[in-house]
Amino acid sequence: MIAVLIGTRPEFIKLASVLKTLKEKKVPHILIHSGQHYSKELDSQIMEDLKLPQPDYRLDVGSGSHAVQTAKIMIGVEEILLKQKPKVLVVHGDTNTMLGGSLAARKLNISIAHVEAGLRSFHASMAEEINRVITDKISTLLFAPTEGTKRNLINEGVPQKNIFVTGNTIVDALKAYLPVAKKSRILKKLNLEENSYILVTAHRSETIDDSKRLELLIDLLEYASSLIGKKIIWPIHPHTKKRLTESKVRLSKNIRIIPPTTYRDMLLLISKAKLILTDSGGIQEEGYILEKQVITIRNYTERPETLTANFLVDLNKEKFKKSYLTFQKNKVFWQKNVFGKGNAGKLIVKILQNFLSGKLKLDGKFNNLKA
Ligand code: UD1
Repeated sequence: MIAVLIGTRPEFIKLASVLKTLKEKKVPHILIHSGQHYSKELDSQIMEDLKLPQPDYRLDVGSGSHAVQTAKIMIGVEEILLKQKPKVLVVHGDTNTMLGGSLAARKLNISIAHVEAGLRSFHASMAEEINRVITDKISTLLFAPTEGTKRNLINEGVPQKNIFVTGNTIVDALKAYLPVAKKSRILKKLNLEENSYILVTAHRSETIDDSKRLELLIDLLEYASSLIGKKIIWPIHPHTKKRLTESKVRLSKNIRIIPPTTYRDMLLLISKAKLILTDSGGIQEEGYILEKQVITIRNYTERPETLTANFLVDLNKEKFKKSYLTFQKNKVFWQKNVFGKGNAGKLIVKILQNFLSGKLKLDGKFNNLKA
């Protein structure tokens, strides 16, 4: 039996195709929701939009310091694993949910299957980097989305036989939900037309938690809006909303904040935007796959595959202007299928089935750890 752990918005989106395939193939599994994301807009609204099944277990851990949140997840997941005794725990990405679940599973000698393994920012100051390095170190099945992420793992000593390049499940999500997104009424509701706005998202601690950087961000958004002559549409993460409310910054009418949207509304907003300005990893991928102009408000990215048409400008106005002009001159290109063809969920489930049946034999004896 397989246990699947989810807890945050990107995990709902990026494990949707895995959950769907597990159901279709009648693979015995249970679904655990950590409750790391709990606000309606980040949680139930997205889960319902994706038609995800109801979780079998909800931990309701909520927010807290990294230690508190991770520890609560470890305690809750351990209890369920002891009761259900799955052979594998499937985790995704880089969140505290993933780390807490992985640590609990590995210590019970339950194999970890890490979806979206091998991404690296090479910046250990990021909570997410710490989380993914640790989970990759103790995982048995590493589902790397690209050849580059496989190379990162090999460079860290993971044996080739434990790594499977599957493509990124974000392509599966796009393929499944773009037709639905076409029916979204969000543009009408916001009175927007195609190419009439710049889409912004910003939620990372490095972007918003320091009040000086938050001011620089707002300054950059005002600049971008006046340079391009388009308004900013900004679906706001609750964390960012809290920081903005605490701060003294005032927004001009060029910046329009809206509540977090459903997945279908977000896909339509991405696909019709003139430009996307973001610190989200998922939106860098979605924007690239949809061949949109993406400018990333960070200094580095775990998605170097996107850098043929994605510029890293941090919060620097000059860099922003240069990047925008490069887009205008069409000096960019988008590689086809760099994140796969949209069958990652199916491949992942096939490999999991082989592992469950014993056809695929793998141990956890790698990375200098003796199982
Ligand atoms: C987490 C992940 C990040 C992922 C992101 C997607 C970690 C370390 N980070 O970041 O990798 O890209 O999810 O959103 O796990 N909050 C709410 N309602 C919610 C959830 C959060 O108001 O439902 C607020 C709280 O103030 C909370 C803050 O947002 O303290 C941060 O939430 P948290 O889940 O810790 O991190 P994210 O920024 O969402």
